[in-house]
Amino acid sequence: MDSFVIDGGFPLKGKIEAGGSKNCALPVLFATLLSPSTHRVSRVPKLRDMDSTLAMIVHLGGEVDQHHAKEFGSDWTVNNSNVKDLEAPYDLVRKMRASVLVLGPLLARFGHARVSLPGGCAIGARPIDLHIMAFEKMGAIVSLAAGYVDARLPPGQSRLKGAKICFPTVSVGATENALMAATLAEGQTIIENAAREPEVRDLAKALVTMGAKISGIGTSTLVVDGQQKLGAMNFVIPRDRIESATYLIGAVLTGGDVEVEGADPEDLGLVLDLLRKTGATVEVKPSSIRVRASGNIQPVDVSTAPFPGFATDLQAQWMVLMTQATGSSMVTETIFENRFMHVPELSRMGAKLKIMGNVVKIDGQPQSLQGAPVMATDLRASACLVLAGMAANGRTTVKRIYHLDRGYESMEAKLRALGAKVERESGS
Ligand code: UD1
Repeated sequence: MDSFVIDGGFPLKGKIEAGGSKNCALPVLFATLLSPSTHRVSRVPKLRDMDSTLAMIVHLGGEVDQHHAKEFGSDWTVNNSNVKDLEAPYDLVRKMRASVLVLGPLLARFGHARVSLPGGCAIGARPIDLHIMAFEKMGAIVSLAAGYVDARLPPGQSRLKGAKICFPTVSVGATENALMAATLAEGQTIIENAAREPEVRDLAKALVTMGAKISGIGTSTLVVDGQQKLGAMNFVIPRDRIESATYLIGAVLTGGDVEVEGADPEDLGLVLDLLRKTGATVEVKPSSIRVRASGNIQPVDVSTAPFPGFATDLQAQWMVLMTQATGSSMVTETIFENRFMHVPELSRMGAKLKIMGNVVKIDGQPQSLQGAPVMATDLRASACLVLAGMAANGRTTVKRIYHLDRGYESMEAKLRALGAKVERESGS
């Protein structure tokens, strides 16, 4: 497995372009399964998760053409008119948990779908009970057997039925699955306590290009008037807010000055406010965001929450930043259990961290990190260790960076463009 070898101590400086959003591209590409038309999806990031998405669509019987016109991103043409296989097997699902998002589109269009129970990032139990609850409300019969979820319409029924679905907790994936399924249901579906993440909003916009009737987009109540059929999707994937924020945090962490072209200030509002609180200068330009370090990082507490709160996908990166602050801070994780696997690795690099349940107390001290060999355990933890390596004295080797390849497009190229000393080492 590949590693990153990082020589720390070089401030990140310069301009890079944000890639297409991974977490938007996944549901959007699976949503193409809702219709046999020819769909066009642009600015799909080049990531391992997109390779897994491609493999899944092809396995089901779809056809995909990729046009790699630019350095980053690609344009996909997808045609799912020959989809016949309605089963997502373990070998594909284990590589990417988001594969569970094929359930909604397949069930809604074909009346039946089977998906292996997901694997993916090792962060807590991550059940799919809310997805199942939504399908059952719409009249599907759902069973779990031999490691598979099987969802089907009752005999004699040709479409899901519109329903009122009220989620007891906010779930991005369950909202997306319910939303996709509802677009082809008979009658109206009301989804309450829907996730308001930008990726859910953007999925809804992509579905609208197919002819879906959705109101309340971007709010916690989505109203969907189901259609008999949907047409072609034509959609450009918005920029990845988590990727953008990771580089902007890196600017402050390393005492640098980074501009991210395409970063969206609306979706990053809270993060930008928090970066200002650390003392950094944040400049929002018409098509980019520039963040400059002040030389002294103030401690700022964060607690993860569903959007518009602080994203759990930035928790690990924020923690590294706080290790370099002057003083103590707290990072609280409220979304996932077991999402502190980066803590022991950061501690090995000299960070002063104490886990207290779902809170980590950080005793920040500038220049306190020392390079060390560390192991990446999940996607965002890997990003945090790369950031730590750039802020540390000496050399850091981040092993098992395949997680990074799942979610950060051309990370070493982008980091090098910003002046980081990063090399990829191939290994077994
Ligand atoms: C998505 C994102 C992930 C992000 C997360 C939270 C994608 C591909 N992934 O993951 O990067 O960290 O949102 O913003 O978009 N839950 C249940 N039952 C369910 C579903 C979820 O209890 O059926 C719980 C989860 O265990 C977790 C919480 O709900 O505690 C939120 O999870 P959810 O929003 O569903 O995360 P994902 O959609 O898997």
